[in-house]
Amino acid sequence: MPIVNMADMLKHAYHHSYAVGAFGVVNLDFVQGVLEAAENCRAPVILNLIESHFSYYDLELLMPAVTAAAQRAKVPVAICLDHGVSIASAVRGIRAGCNGVMVDTSLLPLDENLRLTREVADMAHACGVAVEGELGYVPGDEDEEGVKTQGGLVYTLASEAKAFVERTGVDFLAVSIGTVHGRMSGTPKLDYSRLAKINEAVGIPLAVHGGTGLSDDQCKKLIANGVAKINYYTALSEVAANAIKANVSPGQKSYKTIAHGVRGAIRTEVERCNRLWGCSGRAAEVLAQCRPWHEVEHIMLYNQPEGLSEEATATMLSRNKETLAAIPGVRRVLTGTAVNGEKRSCWLVRLASPEVAASFKGHPEQLKFASSLSQQGTADKVAMDFELGE
Ligand code: 13P
Repeated sequence: MPIVNMADMLKHAYHHSYAVGAFGVVNLDFVQGVLEAAENCRAPVILNLIESHFSYYDLELLMPAVTAAAQRAKVPVAICLDHGVSIASAVRGIRAGCNGVMVDTSLLPLDENLRLTREVADMAHACGVAVEGELGYVPGDEDEEGVKTQGGLVYTLASEAKAFVERTGVDFLAVSIGTVHGRMSGTPKLDYSRLAKINEAVGIPLAVHGGTGLSDDQCKKLIANGVAKINYYTALSEVAANAIKANVSPGQKSYKTIAHGVRGAIRTEVERCNRLWGCSGRAAEVLAQCRPWHEVEHIMLYNQPEGLSEEATATMLSRNKETLAAIPGVRRVLTGTAVNGEKRSCWLVRLASPEVAASFKGHPEQLKFASSLSQQGTADKVAMDFELGE
């Protein structure tokens, strides 16, 4: 169960002056290491799936494991798409199981950033999914292969932040106040007075990207000025790589022997972050105050149109399946026909959350689907939403 509403989770952190770690995960060692650390510390935690890493792992293959691990965890967990490149990325992330999305349009002119972030927020909120927007620009290394982000640092302007938050409807704001992605040489200089003004202007949880390399004192000051989410990846990647390097010796042949210790190294580093950022020991309060995140199964039974051949029925089912599956918040569509020979078709539509149950029914494609069936004389239908237990 403990996948929880991410907006509720970060509101708690914001109002109780601590930050939740949003840890980038790239494989099972990362997922398990981060969750074990969260459980050991009794801390809420966010698992970040960063789109620039999707060339390394297959999101749709990793996510079932991420989701199962999060559901099994004894602490509150949220799962977030990080640095998505488009609204389509956000739809994909939600379909895969994310309950928070960040689409990064921060390098675009303000008007464009605002318009696109608003579009993402409208779509995601209709799915019950929390949204982070970024104003200003946090530069640095996008991944460890030395791929640089496209621009230099652009500070967030407090004067723009309030309107940005109001007009986009984002739940959290990622700010640019001097941090950078990746490991920089030296310690970044942070603009706390800018941060304080942004915090006063917007009054919602702030997110900091580029957590790697921040000193303990810097983290404390960030949190004291409204930062409730710290994104952290490069340092985890480094401790994982160091664990592997320490295992490598001439003649060493076993992958498992070489990778041994990666999960533990990640766990140790995440525990350090959790203690420093103040989220240790908060799991029970957070769990009590967060709406649980759960799916809804929408089930439809239709009489098949009179006189339709088996082949035409199959074509109709697969065409409609594709259409319904593309609706934001739909996670999976299964269709089939009755095994007892009755001319009935069945649709099992997995929706990301109860909010989707409402937005799905009003979606133009779903309305078109329902009306096309009734035009074909298939009005005799059953449609119902179910919450399934464990
Ligand atoms: P670091 O890699 O610097 O920790 O930053 C990660 C990040 O901000 C992902 O959004």
